[in-house]
Amino acid sequence: MDYTLKQQSPAAVRQGLMIIGAYEDLSLTTAATELDKAHHGIFSAYLKTGDFKGKIGDSQLFYNLPEATTKNLATKNSAVRVLLMGCGKREQLSLADIRKIYRAAAQKAAKLAITHAHNYLTELSTEHDDAQTVLRAAMIASAEALYRFEEYKSEKNKSTLQKYTFASLTKPSAAQQQGLDEALAISKGMALTRDLSNLPPNICHPSYLAQRAQQLQKHYSKQLKVQVLSEAEMKKLGMGAFLAVSQGSAQPGKLIVMEYQGTSKTRKPIVLVGKGITFDTGGISLKPGPAMDEMKFDMCGAASVFGTMVACCEMGIGLNVVGIIAAAENMPSGAATRPGDIVRTMNGTTVEILNTDAEGRLVLCDALSYVERFKPDTVIDIATLTGACVIALGKVASGVLGNDQALIDSLLDAGQRSGDRLWQLPLWDEYKKQLKSPFADLANIGGRDAGTITAAAFLAHFTEKYRWAHLDIAGTAWHSGNDKGATGRPVPLLTQYLLDRVHDHPTKS
Ligand code: BES
Ligand code: MN
Ligand code: ZN
Repeated sequence: MDYTLKQQSPAAVRQGLMIIGAYEDLSLTTAATELDKAHHGIFSAYLKTGDFKGKIGDSQLFYNLPEATTKNLATKNSAVRVLLMGCGKREQLSLADIRKIYRAAAQKAAKLAITHAHNYLTELSTEHDDAQTVLRAAMIASAEALYRFEEYKSEKNKSTLQKYTFASLTKPSAAQQQGLDEALAISKGMALTRDLSNLPPNICHPSYLAQRAQQLQKHYSKQLKVQVLSEAEMKKLGMGAFLAVSQGSAQPGKLIVMEYQGTSKTRKPIVLVGKGITFDTGGISLKPGPAMDEMKFDMCGAASVFGTMVACCEMGIGLNVVGIIAAAENMPSGAATRPGDIVRTMNGTTVEILNTDAEGRLVLCDALSYVERFKPDTVIDIATLTGACVIALGKVASGVLGNDQALIDSLLDAGQRSGDRLWQLPLWDEYKKQLKSPFADLANIGGRDAGTITAAAFLAHFTEKYRWAHLDIAGTAWHSGNDKGATGRPVPLLTQYLLDRVHDHPTKS
C-alpha cells in the first residue's frame, strides 16, 4: 500500500473512494460540507432523514453523486464513491475514537473495487493531542486494518486497493507530515512483527529468525549490527537454562543480537529482550491438544523486537537500542529436559525445572544475564509468558512488572497514549517464596497462585544489575477464533516509549 499525505481538492478526485464524516449533532466535516454544497446538498438531505446517527462505527456509502453545481468540482464521474463515516461527538473525540473511525473506514475501503482511497478525515482532532500524534494514530490504525497475511493462500486478497491518501483541504502541517512519517516506520515494523508471528512453525524456527535478522543487517547496514550466537557459544557462556529448552528439539537454539546505533556511543542503550519460542509444545510437560497450533505465536515477543528495531531504523531514531532474541523450540524428545532436572544458569544460579512448559523464563533468564555486557540504561523484556496473564487481564491489556517504578510509569503512559495498553501487577518480595526448591536455588514454577507474578519474580532474580521491566503479552499478541492472527502489539507501545525517550537527558550511570 502506498500511503501519502497531501492537500487535495475533492474536485481533483476522479475515481476511487472519498471518505468524509458527520458528527452526532449531524454537522458535517469541512470536506463533507464542501462536497455537500457542490452536489445539491445530498449529504445534508440524507442526514435530515434521521437514518444516520453519526455514531462512531456508523457508515453509509454513496454512489452516483448528482452532477456538481460548480464547474471545478467535476465529480460527475460515476466511478467516485463517497463513504460517510460517523465521527461521534465533535468536542469529545479521543484518540481511541479516531483510531476506531479510521480502522472502520479502511476496512470498508478494502472491500470496494477501487485502487485508490482518499481519506478526508484528517481534520478530526482531539482536545489533548497534537496534530502529529493524531495523524500518527490515524495512519497506524488504517495500516492495521489493511494488513493481510496471504503468503500461503493460493487465492490472494481480492482487495484491489493500492493507494491510500490522507487528504486535506488545506496544506498539511509539518507536524502532520512528521506524524505520517513516524507512522509509516511504525506500521512497517508492525507488519514485520505480524508476518513473522503468523508464519507457520515449520518455516519460522530459530535459524529462520536468525536469517531474517541477518537480512535486516544487510538492508540497514549503516545502522544495524547483527550477531547470532550458536548453541556451542551459549554453552561456553554457561547458558544452561536456555540450552535446557532447546536440547529437546531438532532445531538448534539461537541467541540473536541486533545493535542499532542512532546516537553517540557514549549514550547507554535501551535493551529489548524478546521471548522467541518458535513453537511451545510444553516439552515433556506436554500441553493439551486443543489450540496447540496457537503456540506458534510463542515467539511474538521476539517478533515485536524485530518490528521495533525496523521502526527504529526507518525513523533513524536518536537512541541506541539493542534487540535480543532468545529463539528456541520447546519439544518433547529422548533428548528433552525432564521435570526434576537441575541446570545452572549463566549467572551461576541453579534451577530445578519442575515443569518444562515454563520454558520462557528459562531462555529469558540467560538472555537477561547476557545483556549486562551492554551496560544498559534500561532493559525491557517482552514475552508471551503466562496463560495466567490472559486470565487476569484478558485480551485488552498486557501485564507489566519490574524493579523501577519510574520506568513502569513511563511505559504505562506510553501504553495509554499509543492505545497499546498495560496494567501493572505487583512484584513484592512475598511472591519470591513460591519459587523455593528443596534441591536448587530456584524452582522454575511457583504453583497456581499469581502465575504471572511468580514468572516475573523468577526473571527478577536475573535483573538486579539494571532498571528492568517485563511485559507479559500472552493475551494481547494475537487474536484467536475467526480472525486468528498476530496483532503486532506491543510495537505501538515500545515505539511510543522510545520516541518519548529521545529527548531525555542521557541517564547518569
Ligand atoms: N507460552 C506459554 C504461555 C501461554 C499459554 C501464552 C497460553 C498464551 C496462551 C508458556 O510457556 C507456558 O506454557 N506457561 C505456563 C506456565 C506454567 C507451567 C507455570 C502456563 O501459563 O500455563
Ligand atoms: Mn510453555
Ligand atoms: Zn511458552
